[in-house]
Parts: sequence; structure tokens; C-alpha cells
Amino acid sequence: MRLEFVDTGNMDLDHKVLGGKGFPRPGTVYILGHPGVGKTQFTLSYLVHRAKKGEKGLYITFIESKEFLLSRCRSFSFYQDLVRFVEEGIIRIETLKPIYGFNIQSIYDLLQNITALINQGEYKNLVIDSVTSLSAYLEPKDVRTLVTQISDLTYRKGLTTVLIGELPLYGESLSVSFEAFIVDVMIVIDYIWVLGTTPRLTTRLFAVKSRISPIDRTAYEVIVDEDGLRILGEIIEKHIPFKSG
Ligand SMILES: Nc1ncnc2c1ncn2[C@@H]1O[C@H](COP(=O)(O)OP(=O)(O)OP(=O)(O)O)[C@@H](O)[C@H]1O
Ligand SMILES: [Mg+2]
Repeated sequence: MRLEFVDTGNMDLDHKVLGGKGFPRPGTVYILGHPGVGKTQFTLSYLVHRAKKGEKGLYITFIESKEFLLSRCRSFSFYQDLVRFVEEGIIRIETLKPIYGFNIQSIYDLLQNITALINQGEYKNLVIDSVTSLSAYLEPKDVRTLVTQISDLTYRKGLTTVLIGELPLYGESLSVSFEAFIVDVMIVIDYIWVLGTTPRLTTRLFAVKSRISPIDRTAYEVIVDEDGLRILGEIIEKHIPFKSG
């Protein structure tokens, strides 16, 4: 299958961070980030952007209901388009709450559901929010099986798949951390302390890996505003990770 790239709708991200290309297709992208940095809204705005190009998107969340997810996007500029695409079936949001725990059978069921939805709907974009939440319910080897199978599905069906990973602010990581080796592109979004007379907490974004195209590993300051994730300038001031702050 021919490798292409699709623009994400975030020109700065595509040009400054992703080598002027965007996300790979087929390909897997891992977005690993601290709580509240904008992982969910960025991936939803990505799906809206791709929907405007005529592509269907499937958003699988283990975290929140479709209604809650939509209602908390109300203040973003992409909200009206998101609601319209959801109503038209161009974007499909599926909540799978693993409250009773997963087992090996439920992984196969889950994968079958995802595959069936992809086969039915000819989705081009798939988002899993989040891989980390699966790690809370499954053995690491089972999460690995699932992620590997989703990756195979991605190549077989010519998709762009975005896996979200949760990076904890405190304590040990819940993630089983193999995801970084399976994916084609990895982006980290984390909080840092910029040092100075008054230290300030800000959000940093950088790409750590691309198997396919050249990337720029410069660290950028980012904010979330009503238009979504916005890349500000390069971080040139002295800074330290959140954990040391
Ligand atoms: N209209 C808005 N303008 C600016 N910021 C907003 C607006 N609406 C929500 N936010 C902020 O956007 C941030 C990103 O939310 P989002 O849910 O995408 O983050 P996340 O990384 O997925 O978080 P979590 O770790 O909880 O899943 C939140 O911190 C929220 O305060
Ligand atoms: Mg989220």
C-alpha cells in the first residue's frame, strides 16, 4: 500500500513538528500527554478537519460518554461541525466502559467490534482514547496484543490511527510503554516549569519519533484556546520537568 500523509488541520503542527507532512496513512500516531493538555480536543478537532475532507472517523473512548464528550466541547470553534458530523454519521463516537474489567475474550470482542465498524463504515481515521486506560484492566501482554492488532488493522485498511496515552503527573506510569515501539509517530505533550524570577508552569509539545519522515525535535510551548491546540514559540528559556517543580 502506498504511504501518504494527511494534514491534521493544525498547520503549525504539520509544518513545525511533522516535517511539513502531517500524519502518515496508513500509519499509527501516539500522543502521550499529561492530564488536561488537550489530547482529547486535539484528536476530535483532527477528526472534524478530516471529515471536512470527506473522510469518516471513529472515536473509541474508554473514559466518557458521547453526550458528556460533546457537551464539554461546546466552547470550541469546531463544536458545531463536530455535532453535525456526528449526526450525519461521518464521525462516530463509541464509549466502551470497562467497569467490570476486561479479559482476553473481551479484547477479541472489542477488536471484532472495531473491525466490524471499520468494515461497515469505511472509516479512514481511528482514535483510541486511551490505550493507558486499557492497561488498568488488562495484563500488559493483552494490551500489547490489542494494540498490535489495531496496528495491523490500520495497515490493512489504510487508516490513520491515533492512540492516546496518559502520562501521570505524580507516581508511577500506568502505561505499559511498549506503544512507543509499535507506533510510527510519537508526540509528547507535558507540563514544564519555565524558570525565572517567577517560575511559570506551561505546556510543552515535541515529537520524539517518526519512522517515516524527518521530524523536528524542537520543544514548543502550546496553549489550548477556543480554536484548539495552538503552537506558540520554541521554548528557549531554562525549564525543568513538572515532577521536579
Ligand atoms: N474554550 C476553551 N478555551 C480554552 N481552553 C479550553 C476550552 N474548553 C476547554 N478548555 C481546556 O482544554 C483543555 C484540554 O481538554 P482535553 O479534555 O482535550 O484534555 P486531555 O488532555 O484530553 O485531558 P484528560 O487528561 O483529562 O483526558 C482542558 O484543560 C480545558 O480546561
Ligand atoms: Mg482526554
